[in-house]
Amino acid sequence: MILQDHISSSLRKGKHSETLLINQLSLERIENDKKVYKLGFGQSPFPVPIEITKQLQLAAGRKEYTSVQGLKELRQSICDLHKEFENKNWQPEQIIVAGGSKILLFCIMAAFKKAEILLPAPSWVSYEPQGKLAGHEVNWIGTTFDDKWSLTAKQLDDYCLTRDTELPLVLVFNYPSNPTGQTYSAKQLSDLSKVMKKHKIIVIADEIYSLLTFKNNYPTLSDYYPEGCIVSSGLSKWCGAGGWRLGFHYIPKELGEDFKQAVIGVASETYSCAPTPIQVAATYAYRNMDEARIFLNRQKRVLNQISQYVAQELNQINIFTHTAQGGFYLFPDFGHYRVSLERINIYSGEDLTARLMNEIGVALLPGSAFGMPPNSLTARLAFVDFDGSQIFSDDIKELGNNNEESYTSAQFEFNKIKEGIKNLCEWFDKLN
Ligand SMILES: Cc1ncc(COP(=O)(O)O)c(C=O)c1O
Repeated sequence: MILQDHISSSLRKGKHSETLLINQLSLERIENDKKVYKLGFGQSPFPVPIEITKQLQLAAGRKEYTSVQGLKELRQSICDLHKEFENKNWQPEQIIVAGGSKILLFCIMAAFKKAEILLPAPSWVSYEPQGKLAGHEVNWIGTTFDDKWSLTAKQLDDYCLTRDTELPLVLVFNYPSNPTGQTYSAKQLSDLSKVMKKHKIIVIADEIYSLLTFKNNYPTLSDYYPEGCIVSSGLSKWCGAGGWRLGFHYIPKELGEDFKQAVIGVASETYSCAPTPIQVAATYAYRNMDEARIFLNRQKRVLNQISQYVAQELNQINIFTHTAQGGFYLFPDFGHYRVSLERINIYSGEDLTARLMNEIGVALLPGSAFGMPPNSLTARLAFVDFDGSQIFSDDIKELGNNNEESYTSAQFEFNKIKEGIKNLCEWFDKLN
């Protein structure tokens, strides 16, 4: 028996990845000189501010390992910025830094010997595989368009009342959401927190997009359930620095020193510490709050404007979409066209997104990638195919904060997205 046969039946089988399929189709189009509207892959379109990249250059000589939890001054600056922007009362001893928040999500899951991981559908693609890799049972609760794809307190309570296991319940709760762009009101969070307390749910609040919530002074779950709410965030989204790999988790003291040490134990046996030069540059990013505020305001105005444009165009032709409340995703529901789509052999979100890619070069990710049932005619639309460096142009630098609104609506260019949406609308129009 050759070696690869010897091991093949012992390997974990990865889920068929819709993301890879769309990437593959998109590469084929690009090779054939055809246009692709990149609304599938979601990464920040904005560059890291130049001052922060300069700090990274200066820190390149920092070759030492740090403690697993990360540089104390970075953890302090993270606490300070989230106090200023979100009124969180965090202590640096409760922060763990890592090369991206994703590995920390896994460390939290792996800290439990056995738990049940609960996910609202739709949710981000990596939670389920991570839960399974950590050896846990993973279950989903479906949400609806009418509830703006949000989990309701009643749904959560009903789910918990029918559970017949003593396993700890870990809910991964992400807002603003990837893939829906929706967030939660104070009332929703308060209602949910009562159910969470009642059933002793451990919540991983994935707030990686929170600083990109369009309205200011937004509520967060830890306002209502600080004791059970682990908060996950980092530099990737608000600072446009996904590839830098800098994330952190805040672990409430109430979960106990043993829990924190269990997470640090997994972190220490997997990644050791986040890259030191990145930690130094991140400290600068988190410390310079005035610059962060300007940068965030510009991003939020632009993203809000594009979200509203796209949602309006889609809703006009009955592709129903809630406008985003933060981040850079929309989650359109194409169900209105089900009968017409079935006539051309499209029965699932996966069929639909493959056809849209092949025929008009519009890349979207099917709802099934996010835990929706295969026959759901939903998709994630990442409205990021534009040149984000425009927000640093000289025009905008000369304008005071108060004038920025007029700048973004008058001069910000996102023609490629407009063209992609026009093609999409025309494609659906022809179905009728
Ligand atoms: C909802 C959500 N959580 C977590 C992550 C991981 O972010 P990081 O770059 O910090 O690992 C992402 C990245 O796409 C995300 O969309």
